[in-house]
Amino acid sequence: MSKRAMHLGILTGGGDCPGLNAVIRAVVKSAILQHIKITGFKDGFRGLVNNDHVSLDYDQVQGILTQGGTILGSSNKDDPFAFIDKPGKAPRDRSKQALNNLSKAAVDGLIVLGGDGSLTIADRFRRLGVPIVGVPKTIDNDLVGTELTFGFDSAVSTAVAAIDRLHTTAASHHRVMVTEVMGRRAGWLALASGLASGADLILIPELSSSLKGCLKVLEHRARQGRRSSIVVVAEGATPLGKLHRRVVKNSPDPLRLGGVAEPLARALELASGIECRSVCLGHVVRGGSPTATDRNLATLFGVAAIELAKQKNYGRMVALKNGTISDVPLELVSHRVRMVDTEHLWVKAGLATGVSFGSN
Ligand code: F6P
Repeated sequence: MSKRAMHLGILTGGGDCPGLNAVIRAVVKSAILQHIKITGFKDGFRGLVNNDHVSLDYDQVQGILTQGGTILGSSNKDDPFAFIDKPGKAPRDRSKQALNNLSKAAVDGLIVLGGDGSLTIADRFRRLGVPIVGVPKTIDNDLVGTELTFGFDSAVSTAVAAIDRLHTTAASHHRVMVTEVMGRRAGWLALASGLASGADLILIPELSSSLKGCLKVLEHRARQGRRSSIVVVAEGATPLGKLHRRVVKNSPDPLRLGGVAEPLARALELASGIECRSVCLGHVVRGGSPTATDRNLATLFGVAAIELAKQKNYGRMVALKNGTISDVPLELVSHRVRMVDTEHLWVKAGLATGVSFGSN
């Protein structure tokens, strides 16, 4: 009697990032070689609720290694436990419908590519008995349990390329360029891109900063004849004493951060008399082709996800630990984020080379 081939589902949830397609490709290619069938659910958890899926084979993943975004689509307003059927409607629990659709699709397990929001939802499904494998994605690099998430290296690269360009215009006009980068509550993206682009001031949520602290640096530089400066500010940093944010109702991830650069530039200019401009890199750093580092990390994660599923080792998230591929319990990631350690090597190297973090 022939045994039924293993069948796995895959979905990409939350904000997109470079490398999602590289994981999908690795999952599908590795699955095909092991006679495992893969079904992709569309637009994150929305595809589970709406029973919207597609069978994935060589043809669908050919040529996608280098493509940004996700061929499956994503959504960060798609929590099946508080699902909004139509804009303006109150959220309803659609988790039973999602579970029914999973069993109709007859998948043996589900691979979820997500950040803390999507992996928290995945963990709720795990507790309801769904065999889940998590894969950590986010440009924020803020997931607990892994040293690195794919998407981060590409986002840093894009941010650095942009800040390199801001250096020359800042120098020509003798200005301060205040550049805001994403990262939510964590400062990884601002720290890595600020250090790599030679920023003079790096403002991150984990290290307290103030207008006074920033002014001290800019005025000192001006006295030394340094007529331009680069400030990199994380969207979650609070140099003006408050978090710049808005609340998006009925979202699994309702806090949207952003908008600190412009008021900070205005306040710095007003107090110092030095001309300041602001730039928000925003979603630009989420787009484009993944770097080689992200392509390879994504491929390793995809292969590891299939391996875990094959061994029926569910309820785990693949992870990078001590430079090698490993896995951790999915519940470790649920409702938690990994902040920058204030003793981190990048912080120390910044301080040792005269970077200021904007403290008083
Ligand atoms: O988590 C990734 C991220 O890009 C954050 O850095 C940012 O705050 C958020 O997503 C923005 O999400 P949205 O897609 O809703 O604009």
